[in-house]
Amino acid sequence: MLTTRPNSVSSVGFFLLFLSLQPLSSLSQPPPPPMSSSSSVHDSFLKCLSDKTKTPQSQISKIVFSQTNPSYTSVLRAYIRNARFNTSSTPKPTIIVTPLSESHVSAAVLCSKPLNYVFKIRSGGHDYDGLSYISDKPFFILDLFNLRDVSVDISGQTAWISAGATLGEVYYKIWEKSKVLGFPAGVCPTVGVGGHLSGGGYGNMVRKFGLTVDHFIDAKMVDVNGTVLDRKAMGEDLFWAISGGGGGSFGVVLGYKVKLVPVPETVTVFRVEQLMASGAVDMVHKWQFVGPKTDKNLFMRMLIQPVTRNKVKTVRATVVALFLGKADDVVSLLEKELPELALKKENCTEMTWYQSALWWDNRVNATETDPKVFLDRNLDSSSFGKRKSDYVETEIPRKGIESLFNKMIELGKIGLVFNPYGGRMAEIADDATPFPHRNMLYKIQYSVNWKESSPELERGYLNQAKVLYSFMTGFVSKNPRGAYLNYRDVDIGVNDHGEDSYKEGEVYGRMYFGKNFDRLVKIKTEVDPGNFFRNEQSIPTLPSKA
Ligand code: FDA
Repeated sequence: MLTTRPNSVSSVGFFLLFLSLQPLSSLSQPPPPPMSSSSSVHDSFLKCLSDKTKTPQSQISKIVFSQTNPSYTSVLRAYIRNARFNTSSTPKPTIIVTPLSESHVSAAVLCSKPLNYVFKIRSGGHDYDGLSYISDKPFFILDLFNLRDVSVDISGQTAWISAGATLGEVYYKIWEKSKVLGFPAGVCPTVGVGGHLSGGGYGNMVRKFGLTVDHFIDAKMVDVNGTVLDRKAMGEDLFWAISGGGGGSFGVVLGYKVKLVPVPETVTVFRVEQLMASGAVDMVHKWQFVGPKTDKNLFMRMLIQPVTRNKVKTVRATVVALFLGKADDVVSLLEKELPELALKKENCTEMTWYQSALWWDNRVNATETDPKVFLDRNLDSSSFGKRKSDYVETEIPRKGIESLFNKMIELGKIGLVFNPYGGRMAEIADDATPFPHRNMLYKIQYSVNWKESSPELERGYLNQAKVLYSFMTGFVSKNPRGAYLNYRDVDIGVNDHGEDSYKEGEVYGRMYFGKNFDRLVKIKTEVDPGNFFRNEQSIPTLPSKA
């Protein structure tokens, strides 16, 4: 039985306890200078920002929020996307800075450095374990929501997208200019570009076009010296590192230039579900042989959820799919390849690619929906949740699927999402970007959400996630067991950035990045030797030889 690696700080519960109990002065990074009260920190930070940006303090103060500012709470909460980290006991930043320009970002980096506060970077706030806006040490948040330009160049089929933009804004801006270009990124429109793209990024075109990072042309970031770098200035190593290695270890990503992809005028979506009594076990078992191997134009996500039907507990398996083509073609393809699904033409809806993005966001009448809904940021709205991830290399035997379903019925709430790879993913080398899991059959996301604020319920649901993760050990990748950086999971280890920083970093780092971890550490050591850009799961520097 394995729930965590032996030398990791092992559970969310422990992590939170750690956040709330750890005396700040005992942590191993040098403590902030005994300067004092947060108001003097605020004053000296403001003065520094004003000097560096040559802007009067009265003006620059509009982008700096200390805890006494009446807008502080609404600014903080706007991009908290997991209600678990929106409680009165959640640690709060001393200052939130909301830059309006690149020069504000540079100045914020330079002015924070001497203060020795942890410097958290937030774009869309969707980090599943809240690492962009919580810390157990005194911290600032650099919140990039104002830097949201998206400019689409139709003739070059490229776009510059800023870190603080959301995926919904990116898709909308592309749709405004073209109905036959798209972008292969995540399916939730409020996810932020900064975290999503720097951490890899994938969506329902992953089998056709690979990851989001496979479409990078250029990038802009602010390094630890406050310098704005583009790809040429940062060099290929650093550009590689921020193409999936997580921006937050290397600097502040300002944006990426990306290549758009061609999409057909008509695509097809469908959703088909089966219960255990109607053959779900066979369907899921067979899906493993088809989902990752079929036509690259077809992405069939599998959702597996315990449910109660007619007072009987069972499991529902739902295939949610995007086919980059017409309904007739996907129906005849799956009649041959996956008859267990029993897909009929009436299950399918043809629409444009942009409408399919709305449909994947659960807009049932996607073809009737106002495209502008993707500009809605839904601020300060979140439920409670926990995610974990795994990778499957070899199909799970039918008996294994059956035992998994029974385990899920026993646990009662936690669900799984299987995301098929294959296609383009398997054609790209596993060191082309920091993301190493190219040859896996599929990725598993463990997923549990709830609405009620109750510590007892929370403990129960977090425990379900751990028990199921442990149950899956024999079925998933090993040595190391893989994990997806963008499905942040502090259970697999956190870093105190003390003497054992490298060792601690290796635990989660190898799970996220495999052998690419070594190159990331080397780059980190070169570009940020003082480890200014750090978080609980950032890339550590190499241990000093002394
Ligand atoms: P957030 O601002 O929380 O940042 C996440 C991490 O990146 C933090 O460590 C942060 O410090 C760092 N960071 C953010 N901006 C940075 C910047 N400008 N420079 C440097 N570092 C920066 N993933 C996926 O691949 N496909 C999907 O379909 C989905 N769907 C999805 C739905 C929902 C509802 C959620 C909550 C999450 C997803 N995800 C996902 C996961 C998502 O890709 C992941 O959480 C991203 O890191 C979120 O990026 P944000 O900028 O929103 O997060």
